[in-house]
Amino acid sequence: MRRDDRCVLALERALGASKVDDSDERRAQLSRDESETDCVLPRAVVIARESADVREALRVCEEHGVAVVPRGAGTGRTGGAAVVVDSIVLDTTALCDVKDIDRDDNIVIVEPGVVTGALHAAVEREGLFFPPDPQSAAWCTIGGNVAENAGGPRAHRYGVTRDYVLGMRAVTMSGAELTLGRRTPKGVTGYDLTSLMVGSEGTLAVFTELWLRVIPKPATVRTLLATFASITDAGRAVTAIVRKGIFARCIELLDSYCCDAIRDAAPSALPPNASVALLIEIDGDPEDCDARCERAGETLTNHGAIDVFAAQHEGERERLWSARSVLSRALRARARFKLSEDIVVPRSKLAAMLDDVRAIAEREQIAMPTYGHAGDGNLHVNLLWSDPSLRPAVDRAVRALFERTIAHGGTLSGEHGIGVLKRDWMHLEQSPAVLDAQRAIKRALDPRGLLNPHKVLPAPGHRGC
Ligand code: LAC
Ligand code: ZN
Repeated sequence: MRRDDRCVLALERALGASKVDDSDERRAQLSRDESETDCVLPRAVVIARESADVREALRVCEEHGVAVVPRGAGTGRTGGAAVVVDSIVLDTTALCDVKDIDRDDNIVIVEPGVVTGALHAAVEREGLFFPPDPQSAAWCTIGGNVAENAGGPRAHRYGVTRDYVLGMRAVTMSGAELTLGRRTPKGVTGYDLTSLMVGSEGTLAVFTELWLRVIPKPATVRTLLATFASITDAGRAVTAIVRKGIFARCIELLDSYCCDAIRDAAPSALPPNASVALLIEIDGDPEDCDARCERAGETLTNHGAIDVFAAQHEGERERLWSARSVLSRALRARARFKLSEDIVVPRSKLAAMLDDVRAIAEREQIAMPTYGHAGDGNLHVNLLWSDPSLRPAVDRAVRALFERTIAHGGTLSGEHGIGVLKRDWMHLEQSPAVLDAQRAIKRALDPRGLLNPHKVLPAPGHRGC
């Protein structure tokens, strides 16, 4: 207990001791996310149980000049929720009420701590659909998804979290309670501050309520797995599927290293001959779905697929997806160190980017298994190594990866955000003027720089890694 910490004592006075936890265990547990960023222990954790707690916590911390790291479930991959300087953590997971599911207006009102998978289930019971489906949906929270503008496989057809956020209530570090956006499908009133908040990684405000658009649940889903001999063939098949207008909802790629790792972790998840695989889903009305599946099968076969399997029932569908869901852990088990990147290139450059990844991996002698949302040109390139002396080679590989991504007209992050891990690479993609404009926005909403500091924006004058 840090009985001499004035800020922690003031938080206890303002919120009640039951909402402030300064046990070593909780501080350690909530100091990190899934990024393996180096962390420091926060002074304490505030557990917000109602939206007024968020406002009070920010007010007290602002008064004491102490930084705040807001967080949901901590499933982020870039350190957005990692504690990197002396801070209080603001845990929003207990704000988990689904307040309203409005079937007339197709809008859902939720608190930020609602688990995304629970949101999916709640709206699907009503015949509705919330498409964003990050791989961590069973644990992650919608507040974190909005903060990172999360995507997932279904983004190929349906877009990312930003496309479903109509409005919100949020509190800034300086205590302003903002009601942003609208509850209608259209609206052009003033600057789009709702969009600004989406993907701001907890640096501009803390959400207390989110107004989300939902759509009717598709009647049918069909799942295909196509196997290929080479990753370049698979990359070309992705472009062909899109060019044919098949309108799949997901086109996911697994390279040969990933297929091997999956076979080790879940031997029956993939067919034995799968060297490189595409996992494709098509949804809609049953007849239309079947017709598009058939066209997809033909297109894949004409573009180098060795085999195309169609899941015949829900059990088979789940088995195919289990390949995808065990993957991250299967790769993690393969090496002492893992860095998971999240680049995006225009889809037409996918095959060229995959060639680049292979060339970089060979040059630096680092394993770089690659999978991801190929239909969006969004690749999770993982770097795996066990010998700490390989770190300089890893750093060179990351630089080359980002440089090739930008050279192809791509972007540094599709869905995991910048956090701390990619902050010092921002200059590769954005000009000093663009970075300065963002710093000015940050200052306007958080003049003392206390809300989730050291995230997203590089320090002024930073010239890169
Ligand atoms: C995935 C996460 C890492 O797609 O974004 O598996
Ligand atoms: Zn992903």
